[in-house]
Amino acid sequence: MTAGAFPQARLERRRFLGLAAGAAGAAVLPGRAGASEAVELRPMPGRQQLGPAARTGEAEVWGYGGRVPGPEIRLRQGERLRAVLENGLAQPTTVHWHGIRIDNAMDGVAHLTQHPVAPGERFVYDFAVPDAGTYWYHPHNRSWEQMARGLYGALVVEEAAPPAVDRDLVLMLDDWRLTEAGAIDEDSFGSGHDWSHAGRLGNWPTVNGAPQPEIPVGRNERLRLRLANAANATVLVLRLDGMRGWTVAHDGQPSGPAALDGEVTLAPGQRVDVIADVTGGAATLMIAGRENFTAARFPVGAPVRPAPVAEPPAPLAPNPLAEPDAAAARRVELRMTGGAMRWLAEARVGERHAAHGGGTASGVLDGRTLAASGLFWAFNGVAGMPGAPFFEARRGETLEIAMVNETGWPHAMHFHGHHVREAATGLWRDTVLLGRGETARVLMVADNPGDWMLHCHMLEHQAGGMATWFRVA
Ligand code: C2O
Ligand code: CU
Repeated sequence: MTAGAFPQARLERRRFLGLAAGAAGAAVLPGRAGASEAVELRPMPGRQQLGPAARTGEAEVWGYGGRVPGPEIRLRQGERLRAVLENGLAQPTTVHWHGIRIDNAMDGVAHLTQHPVAPGERFVYDFAVPDAGTYWYHPHNRSWEQMARGLYGALVVEEAAPPAVDRDLVLMLDDWRLTEAGAIDEDSFGSGHDWSHAGRLGNWPTVNGAPQPEIPVGRNERLRLRLANAANATVLVLRLDGMRGWTVAHDGQPSGPAALDGEVTLAPGQRVDVIADVTGGAATLMIAGRENFTAARFPVGAPVRPAPVAEPPAPLAPNPLAEPDAAAARRVELRMTGGAMRWLAEARVGERHAAHGGGTASGVLDGRTLAASGLFWAFNGVAGMPGAPFFEARRGETLEIAMVNETGWPHAMHFHGHHVREAATGLWRDTVLLGRGETARVLMVADNPGDWMLHCHMLEHQAGGMATWFRVA
């Protein structure tokens, strides 16, 4: 792709610079954004306690404003968000608004929807949020490094009539790979082993950037918990102890309510909204399977009411998603291959990938040569972003997409600009978890024009070849 390919985005930037000169002192607020205010996002290094305080020191992180997570951005459904990215890192970055059915020019994908923003440069994101729900933002350039160092934050779009709860809390989970001293393990960045196996799995989880935080609650308090998995590659299996809960949304889109008895699985990139009553004398958020790791504690204080709320939560109002026309759906198939144990024998190197420094070769290469340039995975025989789209859709067309996982690993397939309906569960999702050897069928109404990425949200898999794109005319 040549310079100058993103006229709309560049115009936005110029317009901002023009404005900024005369707009000194304009309101730039973190937190709640309104129509006339902008959120300032300044990715930069910082120091923060991630590991257990008794045994480790602070880590050098990269965060928005130097903090992990970045500012929690809240706005109302239908409002516009203006966010000013000012790059305080030593490498280019962008901001992607994960799960927002956004104007394509604002999607934040380096080399596909915008130029990466160089150190010291600015970029203004300005877009409407059509759907209420729990979303998040993170870089889309070298995500495998920038997110592992702490660049992400929550984007909450409130319903016009939010459900009746006492408190609305975002819980962003991460899984860090830390050294004994509590620093971010840098030596393993780019590890071929991680890239060809399960990705960068961590050894220490945090919630909202804190090790095992304590979040005081009241007895019988009704909470809305917005859980998000910001880990590079770890699939989290979560459990709420001392609470009675219902899932009310997945990946931002209303679902259920369904009683949450037992565990809820969150793949990297996924979110789940839970409405929960504090029923026990102690409450915890547990990560199951990790010897029952206590991710957060909720010390239970004085009762908020004499007994828990009697009624289960009401369903959330649906977002304005177009209904798929299953009968008229066009079928397309994505064959997912490669990775350890079922190594690629050969694949074509994606032309876009090759053009952006990820590899130098092109044409069909053998597996050994691909691995030497960090490519271990392929979609439909292409490792990395192909020059031509996976499919081109007419606006409004329904597609039935079969994702066939022929690898020996699970994957979390993320669609940009759209939500898809998972055949197996009927849920609307923007990120679909597939077990090894599994095929997932989804229905998608291609109603958002532009070039959109489809990739594995296990970020080492994405960087190692699991990336493609589709075009909506
Ligand atoms: Cu959350 Cu393409 O990413
Ligand atoms: Cu994957």
